[in-house]
Amino acid sequence: MIGYRKILEQAARQMILIHDPDVLIRLIIKIVIKAIGLEHAGFLLYEEEKGYYTLTVSGGKSGTKLSEGFARVRRENPMVKYFSYGYRFWRDDFLIHSRIKRTLESKKMLKDPLRRQLLKELQYQMELHKAEVCLPCFFRDKLVGIVILGKKMKRKTFTFSELGYLSILASDVAMAIENAKLFQGIRIQLDKNRKLFLRMIEVLGGAIEAKDKYTSGHTSRVAVLSLKIFEELCRRGIVKKKNYQEKLRMKEMLHIAALLHDIGKIGIPEHIINKQGPLTPEERHIIEQHPVIGVNILYPLRKEFKDAILGIKHHHERYDGRGYPEGRRGCHIPLIAAIIGLADAYDAMTSDRPYRKALAKERAIGEIRKNKGTQFRPDIVEAFLNVLMREEV
Ligand SMILES: [Fe+2]
Repeated sequence: MIGYRKILEQAARQMILIHDPDVLIRLIIKIVIKAIGLEHAGFLLYEEEKGYYTLTVSGGKSGTKLSEGFARVRRENPMVKYFSYGYRFWRDDFLIHSRIKRTLESKKMLKDPLRRQLLKELQYQMELHKAEVCLPCFFRDKLVGIVILGKKMKRKTFTFSELGYLSILASDVAMAIENAKLFQGIRIQLDKNRKLFLRMIEVLGGAIEAKDKYTSGHTSRVAVLSLKIFEELCRRGIVKKKNYQEKLRMKEMLHIAALLHDIGKIGIPEHIINKQGPLTPEERHIIEQHPVIGVNILYPLRKEFKDAILGIKHHHERYDGRGYPEGRRGCHIPLIAAIIGLADAYDAMTSDRPYRKALAKERAIGEIRKNKGTQFRPDIVEAFLNVLMREEV
């Protein structure tokens, strides 16, 4: 088998695994330039929302390649018309500049002015794109893109077997592009849904605050700080996750738990939540039920929110085991809960409460430091201090 065929066949097999159209086209163009030995090559990709073809990728020697993004080809362009509407001057479906030139020079063509005109326009378009050969990429009947091939190195000419092979590859490329576009569309939609979902959770978290007149903005501040601590823990290698997806999932669970950590307060009488002055032991007992009430509220989502629910349930545990509701200690407290516990305590200290004024930031930090290893997990305190330090710089 000829060397370039082997390379291109390997590439074709890998194409279908790439789900980003830009990455995919870039890879193909790079391989084609190398395998065939071209001065440059490019790809005109049809962009549905814009209604025209854009030169998305251009590779090769500087000085010979075209500028990406600038070249635009409309649907009424002769090259698009030639490929799309089935005008055929030759048996194959590629445009070769030298062949067009030869045909125009032959006397036979002079007899048909319309055909001659179209060929002249095609010749002009190919020169504009420094194209020696243009190949259509069809998916079903749709012209997905046009491959532009520049001159071959050392003035070599294209062989018909090479071009025939490349045109088969072009249809594989078209299928891979459509596949990648489909994946990209699904990803965008999923991302939109996820954002909408988190906004809804945020709204729900905000609804809890309506009951507690002293905690305006508390849940979103706790969420922001918790996520920053989490990122810092990842940077320090304390959160070790096998892969990126797992880390993302954990981060999302933390985000949800932080926004809903006090959802159980919905079940606590308002006069206890907003009480001026210290709570009686009975009132304290009632208020300490809020993590478990939260778990009960979220029971219908126990499968999807498993880790977030654990974070909510244990956000008032202490590192030394003197917290509630279970008195868990050390590493038995879920990481998500321990992060929220610290962010919650810091935000509570730096906000006005019914029974006291807000502490200054420095005093609150001092309190966190003092309770490192008793109330708070030491590595989370370190990560938190680093987050604050970085923000001050
Ligand atoms: Fe709480």
